[in-house]
Amino acid sequence: MAQRIIAASMLSADFANLGRDVRMINESECDWFHLDIMDGVFVPNISYGFPVVKAIADSTSKPLDAHLMIVNPDRYVERFAELGVSWISIHYEACTHLHRTLALIRSCGMKAGVALNPHTPVAVLKDILCECDYALIMSVNPGFGGQKFIERTYSKIVELKQIIDSQGVDCKIQVDGGVTLSNITPLSDAGCDIFVAGNTIFSASDPVKMISDLKKQMQRQA
Ligand code: DX5
Ligand code: ZN
Repeated sequence: MAQRIIAASMLSADFANLGRDVRMINESECDWFHLDIMDGVFVPNISYGFPVVKAIADSTSKPLDAHLMIVNPDRYVERFAELGVSWISIHYEACTHLHRTLALIRSCGMKAGVALNPHTPVAVLKDILCECDYALIMSVNPGFGGQKFIERTYSKIVELKQIIDSQGVDCKIQVDGGVTLSNITPLSDAGCDIFVAGNTIFSASDPVKMISDLKKQMQRQA
């Protein structure tokens, strides 16, 4: 079975104690940091930018996965590469020239992902999957942590997995939003490789144990 990944969404961290929360993730079984970048235009919220990304990058050796919920992502791709981000996803809905943007990301030495909003059918990725290292399926509307998981996501993941397998491309599937101990096993069974979790980790009384439990649940197949 391919390696499955847990990515902690730092949107739910305590920013007054960011160093503490980064150390907690470093010392846990968590695989990646997931960094949600919001511009207040593509999504109705503004999160954080380069100084916070740099602070996290300087404090960890775990991979950084940036999820850009911004318009004109091309303008910032190089900056994220310079800061040490190694996986970066941009939104299908925000890119007029998606092929060009993905090529730009790869030319900066990063893995390139395309994120889809809940209303966007996975079939739109058919002619671009060979240029993607991962596809991010949003299981909530982007913009906020702690929202309720949208059930329709399962069938989108199953359909995307079928398309990926039929093309024989090496594209991982990431799910983002409302991931919990209860849905991580069926998401894994549906074909998901990378699981983003924010609220589930940071609101837990013991986040390190929660990460360990999520990893156990994602590796358990029904
Ligand atoms: C939402 C973000 C998510 C969010 C996930 O726009 O893309 O990464 O932080 O948070 P939870 O796991 O709390 O739904
Ligand atoms: Zn995200």
